[in-house]
Amino acid sequence: MSEDLCARAQRLRALIRYHNYRYYTLNDPEVADAEYDALMRELRTIEETHPELITPDSPTQRVGAEPLETFDRVEHPYPMTSLSDAFSREEVKGWLDRARQMLPQGISLEFVAEPKIDGLAAALTYEDGLLHRAATRGDGRIGEDITENVRTIRNVPLRIPVGGDVAPPALIEVRGEIYIPRDLFETLNRRRQAEEEDAFANPRNAAAGSVRQLDPRVTAERPLRFFAYAIGHVEGTEITTQWESLQHLRDLGFAVNEDIRLFTDFQKVLNYCEEWMDKRDLLNYEADGVVIKINNLNTQQRLGIVGNAPRWAVAYKFPAREATTRLQNIAINVGRTGVLTPYAVLEPVRIGGVTIRQASLHNFEDLERKDIRERDLVVVRRAGDVIPQIVGPVEGVRDGSERVFPPPEVCPVCGEPVVSSEGEVDIYCGNPSCPAQVVRRVEYWASRGAMDIEGMGTKLAEQLVNEGLIADVADLYALEKAALLELEGFAEKRAQNLLQAIADSRERPLWRVLVGLGIRGVGSTVARVLTDHYHSIDDLQEASPEELLELEGIGPGIAEAIADFFAQPGNRTLVERLRKRGVSLQDEERVEGGPAPLEGVTIVITGTLPSMSRSEAKELIMAHGGRVTGSVSGKTTYLLAGDRPGRTKTQAAERERVPIIDENDLYTLIDHSETDSMPQGDDVEQPSLDL
Ligand code: IVH
Repeated sequence: MSEDLCARAQRLRALIRYHNYRYYTLNDPEVADAEYDALMRELRTIEETHPELITPDSPTQRVGAEPLETFDRVEHPYPMTSLSDAFSREEVKGWLDRARQMLPQGISLEFVAEPKIDGLAAALTYEDGLLHRAATRGDGRIGEDITENVRTIRNVPLRIPVGGDVAPPALIEVRGEIYIPRDLFETLNRRRQAEEEDAFANPRNAAAGSVRQLDPRVTAERPLRFFAYAIGHVEGTEITTQWESLQHLRDLGFAVNEDIRLFTDFQKVLNYCEEWMDKRDLLNYEADGVVIKINNLNTQQRLGIVGNAPRWAVAYKFPAREATTRLQNIAINVGRTGVLTPYAVLEPVRIGGVTIRQASLHNFEDLERKDIRERDLVVVRRAGDVIPQIVGPVEGVRDGSERVFPPPEVCPVCGEPVVSSEGEVDIYCGNPSCPAQVVRRVEYWASRGAMDIEGMGTKLAEQLVNEGLIADVADLYALEKAALLELEGFAEKRAQNLLQAIADSRERPLWRVLVGLGIRGVGSTVARVLTDHYHSIDDLQEASPEELLELEGIGPGIAEAIADFFAQPGNRTLVERLRKRGVSLQDEERVEGGPAPLEGVTIVITGTLPSMSRSEAKELIMAHGGRVTGSVSGKTTYLLAGDRPGRTKTQAAERERVPIIDENDLYTLIDHSETDSMPQGDDVEQPSLDL
């Protein structure tokens, strides 16, 4: 009986091991979850009734052993080096030149290029096919024993080879990276938030935190994975290249990154690296560069190690996007509409060549959700050229000096009570005369995309408001030279110029006035749609939301916001004050630019445009008097083509001799230069950050 059970248990283990491999290593399961669960259940039942049948490599033994007191130290028989970094093509070429100098002239080299996974290095030792020990890199010479934690990683084989037929090497040390795939990281964080636990700042921190858990049962709950990228040492197998090593690791049942490539042409290696720089966001793991390795192991040996890094490999790093720094304190920005936005004042830190001193914290709900505190060590992220973000605090390094920053009860500038409305995350300073709000509104009114008043920036707006010379934008038009001359930094000439610039702005077209008023959702495009229909602010003020909805490109949110704006007595008064002070509030036969620039022009759109959706393009064209149709004919003026244009439309355009233009040409046609730095609607307002 026990004989039978023993055989059955062995059979079950082999089956489960195989299905694990299909699922976690190959990402290609063969059986449904229920079937897999049934096999596991059967094995567990046998092992519970016959504990003597449990083997250390049984798949049931992945759940996590008893907690440890500390991690044991492990001396690496073969040091785990780090890599030297390169940040440009030139630096990578420099690395290769230096390596070549140490090699026979004209030797032909092969290269293996591997995405550099941003996780945690580990060395896994197998004796006679059984996972014997796993260690962190530590200082390269001595690491920590994390065997019990690594046993819980689903795609780490407890026994090799996974397939079973070939004899295992007597001893092999496999090196690789422990990481958390991006999709599983998202799920993990969502689950933690649902359970009111702190979210992890990024997959790397989560992986590092999970591997360094003293309780393996906690580690077992984390979606860790392992990529093997090198053999530290092997007995009984002849391997001569890195490429063969990877193949061998694959044969033994390890997960090896599918994106690794072998090259003979170095130019192609560089291209490969740069391709990944653009594609890094498509990977399901965080990569911070590409590791380039000389393929031949003899050549590697010959080149050896300098300092702490091999001469035969280099990491071509992607531009950094994240860094860790101290959050010194949290401050509050008061926006044009009174929105109170917290932002972080940071100990200056360089990311990708830019020094970051401040970062947006979005809103107080976000701040609380991420549990970011003053004095925290935080991860700062800068993706592309967007405003830097705080990803979150670094886990487990708080010393008690950190301070929670609760939402304020009064506006930090004017001291009036803060208001909030149900269902909205933002909180506001409810005082429309709050000096901070006035400054922002004046600044916005004067900006290039709105009334375009030269010389009127943030500093001057602050000066004028703080000195009590203006309390709203209408006051600009009553400024007197004598008062300006009293101000610091003002002499005759500057005062003269400013007054002239303000006076000139009285004649701006109506759409600029509308943008300047800062109605939620009303940027230049919407403002032009409005003024094409309503030629004076008086007509617009009386429009109902239903009426506004009829207009092309105006949705319910914007229609509501416009009607709301003009329903408020304070705004009506402001409009009247502007009128009294000579600001033109109607369009007479298009003050600027004569006829609509796209009058009589018919455009067909095809492909993906670089900076706007097709419907935005359509809106833009129509706002400038043009027409958009669906197919190219003799009546079409232009075909506006983006990326991957449609064949039918392109061929028709060629046949009908319709010029094909791109997005830039479109901007040229409508002379977009004047709207370059257009402030957007209120919905995208950001605190003004001094970066
Ligand atoms: S090779 C001698 N290959 O990068 C070469 N390292 O600074 C040693 N890493 O902590 C490493 N992906 O864990 C190598 N494909 C890859 C890698 C990789 C990530 C990590 C490694 C180490 C660091 C080296």
